[in-house]
Amino acid sequence: MVKTIEWKNGKVRMLDQSRLPLDVSYIECADFKMVAEGIKKLWIRGAPAIGIAAAMGIALGAQGVKAQSYDDFMERLEPIMETILLTRPTAVNIYWAVERIKRLLYQHREESVEQLKQLLIDEGKQILEEDIETNKAIGKWGAQFIRDGDTILTHCNAGSLATGGYGTATAPMLIAKEQGKRIQVIADETRPVLQGARLTAWELMQEGIPVTLITDNAAGALMKRGMIDLAIVGTDRTASNGDVANKIGTYTVAILCREHGIPFYVAAPLSSIDFSINSGDLIPIEERNPEEVSTFWGRRVAPNGVKIINLAFDVTPAKYVSGFFTEKGVFKPRDLKKLQGEDFDLESIRLAPPND
Ligand code: MRU
Repeated sequence: MVKTIEWKNGKVRMLDQSRLPLDVSYIECADFKMVAEGIKKLWIRGAPAIGIAAAMGIALGAQGVKAQSYDDFMERLEPIMETILLTRPTAVNIYWAVERIKRLLYQHREESVEQLKQLLIDEGKQILEEDIETNKAIGKWGAQFIRDGDTILTHCNAGSLATGGYGTATAPMLIAKEQGKRIQVIADETRPVLQGARLTAWELMQEGIPVTLITDNAAGALMKRGMIDLAIVGTDRTASNGDVANKIGTYTVAILCREHGIPFYVAAPLSSIDFSINSGDLIPIEERNPEEVSTFWGRRVAPNGVKIINLAFDVTPAKYVSGFFTEKGVFKPRDLKKLQGEDFDLESIRLAPPND
């Protein structure tokens, strides 16, 4: 499995996903501004992966901070955190990482500035390790919902590349394969940035999972022909009521699934659930450069001057979600809120896999 991001020799090393699959090359970020640029330019993308990049970027920025006290250190760290926070608005994982870092530093406010700097490096590495474990747990729970012979539709890339490793939507696929289930995947190409064609197809082929690429427009026709058994997608931010922000086109997939009686699952680590909001209407949706739509692989394909809307994400209402694959089990949208604390008896609300 290819490494998406790591802390190496005092730098943040990331795979340049904007060049995949034609070129497998890494970029070494020596300062936090370069990490921020990498997040904006999609060298690294996918909600959990940019959460990890955020934590490592802040750790990198902190190394250059000159301060004598905790308060002084925090004041100088603020603009670094702000730069990272302003990179991409939709994925909650960036905010989650920043909040986690602030809490950690506060808990260690009595320690020296040098110790705080080291703590940030360790925390970045820790978030990466935890993310891999989380994905494996999502995979273990989610794989129960995949039967031998199933064909799974996925949209965008919620694979290894979008995370520290294993992916969220792809982890159940990898584990189902390990369990000997014969599965195959249909990947939507995912216009305009082609995460499905360039990234999902590439990484599943490397994992030996049979994958077929389709245009985004083809999913409905394949469902009508009975060629898809279930859909699994990732999420950039899920509100506590179960509304799901994910790559543009996810909403369409969910409605198509409902129309054809196909289960639609969302793989959601708890770091992607925004417990502070109770509706998807409150999720900020990133609008990206119109050139992503008007050009194709560097060539203009639309008339000069045409008006373009380039929403990077959409929100799928909770009512279309058959279940959330999380690291704590599989749950109905209405039960997501209960995952926030530690004290709820999760066993009583865990969804059981459908009968054959
Ligand atoms: O614009 P991107 O490539 O960052 O969008 C990524 C997605 O929409 C993924 O599906 C989502 O982040 C889940 S990743 C595990």
